[in-house]
Amino acid sequence: MRSFSAVMRGSAWLAFVGAVSAGTAPQHRPRADISACKLAADSDVYLSAGFGYELNCAPSTGTLNAFMIFVDFDDEGAVETPQSLHDFFLPAAAEWYATSSYGALALNVTADTSRFYRMPAAAASYGWARGLSYETHQTYIQDALDAYGQAIPETDVLYVVPTANATSISFSPTFMGDVETRAGVYVAKKSVTFGLDAYRTWKYLVLNHETGHTMCLPDYYPFNGSATGLFIGGWDLMGLISGPSPDYFAWDKWRLGWLSDDQIECVAEAGSTTHTLTPLEKAGGSKAVVIKHSGTDVLVAELRTADSLDAASCATGVLLYTISTTTATGEGPVRVLDATPSSAGCAGDKLNDATLNLAGTSSYTIAQWGVTVTVVSESDDGVEIEVEVA
Ligand SMILES: *[C@@H]1O[C@H](CO)[C@@H](O)[C@H](O)[C@H]1NC(C)=O
Ligand SMILES: *[C@@H]1O[C@H](CO)[C@@H](O)[C@H](O)[C@H]1NC(C)=O
Ligand SMILES: *[C@@H]1O[C@H](CO)[C@@H](O)[C@H](O)[C@H]1NC(C)=O
Ligand SMILES: [Zn+2]
Repeated sequence: MRSFSAVMRGSAWLAFVGAVSAGTAPQHRPRADISACKLAADSDVYLSAGFGYELNCAPSTGTLNAFMIFVDFDDEGAVETPQSLHDFFLPAAAEWYATSSYGALALNVTADTSRFYRMPAAAASYGWARGLSYETHQTYIQDALDAYGQAIPETDVLYVVPTANATSISFSPTFMGDVETRAGVYVAKKSVTFGLDAYRTWKYLVLNHETGHTMCLPDYYPFNGSATGLFIGGWDLMGLISGPSPDYFAWDKWRLGWLSDDQIECVAEAGSTTHTLTPLEKAGGSKAVVIKHSGTDVLVAELRTADSLDAASCATGVLLYTISTTTATGEGPVRVLDATPSSAGCAGDKLNDATLNLAGTSSYTIAQWGVTVTVVSESDDGVEIEVEVA
């Protein structure tokens, strides 16, 4: 879901100066210094997909602390227990993060399941049907804090969970500004307010999508009304929550600190290099080759398997996508490249079988960038690819 932000600008970020190391790796050419591929975020682009974006983002490594409260309304009263709604999301969503982050992120949710707190206004009055603004969303959150009426220990993220009977609270946006009570008491960096789409459509994974926004990840589906899968198919749940391969892209795992620099290989010069990739879904090993095109654009190659969080994947192999740090959330900052353009796709989207592999299409060229990626060999442990940069 879209997130709402106050007009805030991250501070200026230092641009990296690429330097080529005189590495001793047995490649045709020396590897580029990893910093050449760490594109800096553009602070003028909302939720820019580069490194160092600043918007009081929730922590993505260590512990992300959250506090969860439950609300209902005069016109749409609760019909279940708060505990049942807690259990709808947890521990599944926390386990999802533990797996996707290879243990780097622990989601620590403290919940007051003692009762539903009755909101001061009718559910239908909060404006979901008209589409929320920053102000109307803030009103809802501050009403929830008023209804709660007790001090909340300072936390990273406030989760507001409504009864599933509240059909007026139809979707689940993230509030990106500081969360404060009406009296001005600071509560949290961000707030996720859940809605009916969680219960009806997305299930607990909506928590992982929205909490991704609290860590400043952008939306990867188009905001302009085109099909949800237009830019990335079902390859990351910041695009389509119910897609067959919802694990986060390696690029974002690197940005979030779930992958270390030594798990990424950077190509920043012309020539031919070979690289080994291990499955994104399993901890350890080399996870992505990042091919630098400019100071704002890279191509990424990663290996997807039908395993773990991507168990429902309908095509496996090397996934190629571009990153643009100058493209805002909802406008396609990540675009999956379709290595099989003449196929109809799978699991409902043309891009879901976009991968390169020896059984299908094994090589792909981005002509405008002069880059070709070819799968050279495959084994149970991973694949070897060759990258040629003209
Ligand atoms: C939803 O809440 C209203 C108001 O409290 C109540 O009359 C109605 O029975 C509830 N819906 C269900 C399905 O119980
Ligand atoms: C998890 O949250 C509880 C309650 O807020 C807190 O006491 C505890 O220290 C937190 N755990 C970590 C590892 O931060
Ligand atoms: C949405 O934006 C994309 C990327 O610019 C474009 O390809 C698509 O046609 C647009 N869709 C609509 C409905 O304007
Ligand atoms: Zn979203």
